[in-house]
Amino acid sequence: MATAQPIVQYLDVNKVYRGGNVAVEHINLTIERGDFVCLIGTSGSGKTTTMRMINRMLEPTGGQILFNGEDIHKKDPVKLRRQIGYVIQNIGLMPHMTLYENITLVPKLLKWPEAKRRAKAESLIKMVELPVDYLDRYPAELSGGQQQRIGVIRALAADQDLILMDEPFGALDPITRESLQELVKSLQEKLGKTVVFVTHDMDEALKLATKIVVMDGGHIIQNATPAELLQHPANQFVRDLIGEERLIQARADVTTVGAIMLKNPAVITPGKSLPEAIALMRKRRVDTLLVVDDNGYLKGFIDVESLTHQYQKSTAVADIMQTKLFYVQETALLRDSVDRILKRGLKYVPVVDADNKLRGIVTRASLVDMVYDTIWGGDNDNGESGNPAPVDQEPAEGGGVNE
Ligand SMILES: Nc1ncnc2c1ncn2[C@@H]1O[C@H](COP(=O)(O)OP(=O)(O)OP(=O)(O)O)[C@@H](O)[C@H]1O
Ligand SMILES: [Mg+2]
Repeated sequence: MATAQPIVQYLDVNKVYRGGNVAVEHINLTIERGDFVCLIGTSGSGKTTTMRMINRMLEPTGGQILFNGEDIHKKDPVKLRRQIGYVIQNIGLMPHMTLYENITLVPKLLKWPEAKRRAKAESLIKMVELPVDYLDRYPAELSGGQQQRIGVIRALAADQDLILMDEPFGALDPITRESLQELVKSLQEKLGKTVVFVTHDMDEALKLATKIVVMDGGHIIQNATPAELLQHPANQFVRDLIGEERLIQARADVTTVGAIMLKNPAVITPGKSLPEAIALMRKRRVDTLLVVDDNGYLKGFIDVESLTHQYQKSTAVADIMQTKLFYVQETALLRDSVDRILKRGLKYVPVVDADNKLRGIVTRASLVDMVYDTIWGGDNDNGESGNPAPVDQEPAEGGGVNE
């Protein structure tokens, strides 16, 4: 193949049901080969309709759908369907056929020789970790989760490149559901399949999808990667669908330290005298000062304790300042910094730019507020005051250096 062609393209597709019910409208969607596309949206938003038009189980009322660049309208629907795997919610295994017959239904229609069908069925059933002798069983002799495994591999049996799945795991318990999600994801990646997957469940979509297509009222509201969706939900509907908690979690994944730092920490230059330092501490109501030189470079810190101990002996800030301190870069992600800051038990951490110039501080109290209250839902039992004033608490611990 010269250039990679999208496997499916919707060109301004509409579907109006009899009686004038507009199910979907102006659907423009490109599905690339190897994508795992999740269609998500409220009930009645048009997900199933959108999916079923791909294999002509439903015919569009307007627009065009291309499969491997060809207008599906010009293809024989039966042949088209055999090129596309399909897994439906209620499993759809034929009760009067053995698992072997179920799995090899389409290969048989495609007139594969018996030996090839047998080999395929055996390799697939091993993939889903069921015994080969189950091939002679009937669906009713399996649990729901086992049946759904068979439903999944049946959709893979004819080596179709494209698999459609309409809420395939909706009825399963969470553990079975999770193991089937992993199975489908790994099969899709390993075998390079393209999957179009309808779900109501945002966690499922975030876990499986390479692209999430959000639908509402028959329209596509947003088509984005999971990360894009979390970072830039298109509107309030998408935000509601994602949910506040997931959005906040996602924020820690993308927010930099610089975005939440406090920008006016109490600072002093090394040449200042100790009485000046004390006056400043009193004025700012803080017990520690960051020391920066005239060009704004972070040099160290002084705290009220060392001031009182050495007040007699010393004359300038430079003489008593401690130079070992832990600091973070303003471009560091909050996700990567939060743990380190909290674990060290620091009350605050200076934030510097790439040149080591002081840019601000992140206080433990503000992190604790944000992390415990917002991200993890108020498990804060460490007795923090929660006072967000810059450095208006205990000094930073010495000894830590930037890592
Ligand atoms: N055969 C039909 N005749 C008339 N209207 C229909 C038909 N099938 C679906 N609809 C309507 O089309 C719209 C979209 O339905 P569709 O089944 O695509 O939604 P969905 O997003 O899959 O919903 P759900 O999450 O409940 O499965 C709905 O308003 C539905 O009532
Ligand atoms: Mg549906």
